[in-house]
Amino acid sequence: MSTLLTNIGELVTNDLARGEGLGTVPDAAVVVQAGRIAWTGPAASAPAADEVVDLGGRCVIPGFVDAHSHTVFAGDRAAEFAARMTGEPYTGGGIATTVAATRAASDDTLRARGQALVREMLAQGTTTVEIKSGYGQDVTTEARMLRIARELTPETTFLGAHTVPAEYATDRPGYLDLVTGPMLAACAPHARWIDVFCEPAAPTAFDEDESRAVLRAGLRAGLLARVHGNQLSQGPGARLAVEVGAASVDHCTHLTDADVDALAGSWGAGAGQGTVATLLPAVEFSTRSPYPDARRLLAAGVPVALATDCNPGSGYSSSMPFVVALAVREMRMSPAEALWSATAGGAAALRRDDVGHLRVGARADLTVLDAPSHTYLAYRPGVPLVSEVWKDGQRACP
Ligand code: NIG
Ligand code: FE
Repeated sequence: MSTLLTNIGELVTNDLARGEGLGTVPDAAVVVQAGRIAWTGPAASAPAADEVVDLGGRCVIPGFVDAHSHTVFAGDRAAEFAARMTGEPYTGGGIATTVAATRAASDDTLRARGQALVREMLAQGTTTVEIKSGYGQDVTTEARMLRIARELTPETTFLGAHTVPAEYATDRPGYLDLVTGPMLAACAPHARWIDVFCEPAAPTAFDEDESRAVLRAGLRAGLLARVHGNQLSQGPGARLAVEVGAASVDHCTHLTDADVDALAGSWGAGAGQGTVATLLPAVEFSTRSPYPDARRLLAAGVPVALATDCNPGSGYSSSMPFVVALAVREMRMSPAEALWSATAGGAAALRRDDVGHLRVGARADLTVLDAPSHTYLAYRPGVPLVSEVWKDGQRACP
């Protein structure tokens, strides 16, 4: 059974063989078969298919790849947000509130919230999402979070080293032993990734040596590394991410020139797969902080991803179109750069080559915009432009 999606006003393929930038094709068509992209090109030369869907001149882009979220949790922190908007800083200290609520929640409660957020993301064009643990901070709750996350996505991340919980406040080595020992053993079967909140400036987060120990233990257990780094201040996160071969360092709000050089160097000849800089501008929006310097990273040749970081504390947006609009308006990325980072960039940050583009063989995950071109994502901020979402070759939304 093949499906021809035709009368596409602008098709974004991210196929560099089709030309620089986004590999766009005007007046295009796509053939989908067995959940994969079987053909793309001008509608006038499209092959026949079993079924034909007329998209009425709308724009088609690869489904967004949101490579950083914390969408399994309980409770909310609306009061913390309101206080911040009237002057209190974001320190990461409020994470303990979510830990308490998450520990107390049943599996059904956690599952329902996670499902609702992933549905909300899908309705906004996201077809691949990464989900972290990190609000359990005990063996049982971390493992519960990851089992539930695994029902929602294959991209699951063990973040037991999110913060040191109150009961270990005077025994940090004890918590590190737990995270790198029994907690890792219970969580690794449900996770693809290991992550750590490396932020020496935040008293409950982790310093360089602690972060290295967490990442190395995860790697030994067969997980791949990613890092929360350089969010609140300059620090070792980005350089440590490169050192351990992490797929991504996320936030990157405070980078030194040496950090940028290290990230760029990780993509140098013979260096294999490097470390992506994942920027999370919805966090700067929601914490009213200066945005990361995307142009500096792009100028240095560092691949940049954009993600939501959807979480109840530092930024509770599930919307990749919102993130794209912020990246263009606030970080001076071009509309094409922002869309690339929200799709192919996210895929690189997850070391996936089957998503984030619409080349032949890719997963048929695509987002239809009620707009003539991808520029409208930033040009019409806050407008629900996502009109259809296809996942694995099937219409998944609405
Ligand atoms: O990525 N930085 C640490 N963790 C999350 C925030 C979690 C929270 O505040 O609940 C982040 O911003
Ligand atoms: Fe995060």
